[in-house]
Amino acid sequence: MSNIVKIDKWNPDPDIIARAASILRDGRLVAFPTETVYGLGADGENARAVKKIFLSKGRPQDNPLILHVHDRRVAERLAKCSQRAFDLMDEFWPGPLTLVLPLLEDSRVPKEVTAGLSTVALRMPSHPAALALIEAAGRPLAAPSANKSGRPSPTDARSVALDLCDSVDMILDAGSVDIGLESTVIDLTGDDVLLLRPGGLSSETLCEFLGFPLRTPLLSDADASKRSPGTRYRHYAPNIGVVIWDKKNPLASLVAPAVSGFIGLSEPGVPFAHSIVFDSPESYARGLFASFRSMESEKDCGCIVVEWPEAEGIGLALRDRIKRAANK
Ligand code: TXA
Ligand code: MG
Repeated sequence: MSNIVKIDKWNPDPDIIARAASILRDGRLVAFPTETVYGLGADGENARAVKKIFLSKGRPQDNPLILHVHDRRVAERLAKCSQRAFDLMDEFWPGPLTLVLPLLEDSRVPKEVTAGLSTVALRMPSHPAALALIEAAGRPLAAPSANKSGRPSPTDARSVALDLCDSVDMILDAGSVDIGLESTVIDLTGDDVLLLRPGGLSSETLCEFLGFPLRTPLLSDADASKRSPGTRYRHYAPNIGVVIWDKKNPLASLVAPAVSGFIGLSEPGVPFAHSIVFDSPESYARGLFASFRSMESEKDCGCIVVEWPEAEGIGLALRDRIKRAANK
């Protein structure tokens, strides 16, 4: 794994950042840390570079990418930003909030980024190394989570290397991420604010700021999957089965604990072969994907029981990822 380069999160070495930026300007791929998960970055204005992301991940081409910016003025060059968009940027950028906005016709965003949609997803991450890299590259970076399509998102550099190995030219390693689940994605193209993907910024915080509730596209909405193409696919899944456990129900009958793992917030009270118990919903979120990866690598772990958290705060995003990992 010689392409992993360690950097300091708060004080990233400018020479390393400059090397990574030049790889990106060359049309090649660099994986980098953000506060949510690790991203697989390419020059977001270079169609050939962006195509490499899809090849490297095995990602369906109709699933658009988020463009990462370090400056609001770059966002204004890419998308039509309403007053509401500016207000949200002022309050929550940099941070785990992605805004889906109408694409400006004269922007240089290739159709590979937007999957041909007339909208574009923009985010300003708060991780200092990510911001330094975007600034040094001098262009918006297209960056999905740096995992093979369908797998749990990587929360450390080693997981990126295990999934993508040789297809990424450099992996910047700033240790484990803070949040552990991806950004919240909202659609600002209509009168309502649509929650396309719950994530690192809670819906409660967003609603409180907006002063009205977010609308959740129902699966029955004819255009729901068109608006949020990523929701069509099975996601975040380890390569062993995932069973959801709601603590209101008895646990023992679900699986054979001696050959299973447990991940959650409550002591299972049953002798599982492996168990990881977190002390808060935030640490559960930070550790969910890494726990999936560690349990699937245990020889005697045939299945993982995952506790269903409360639907508040980060719990809403946890529920979303757990449900998709269980293929529900
Ligand atoms: O935290 C994150 O958002 C991470 C880090 C690396 O920034 N990135 C990430 O990217 O999770 P990805 O590609 O794994 O997920 C992007 C989501 C997908 O569900 C995609 O369908 C949706 O954003 N998306 C992107 N562009 C869109 C658009 N124009 N309209 C609707 N949904 C869009
Ligand atoms: Mg992803």
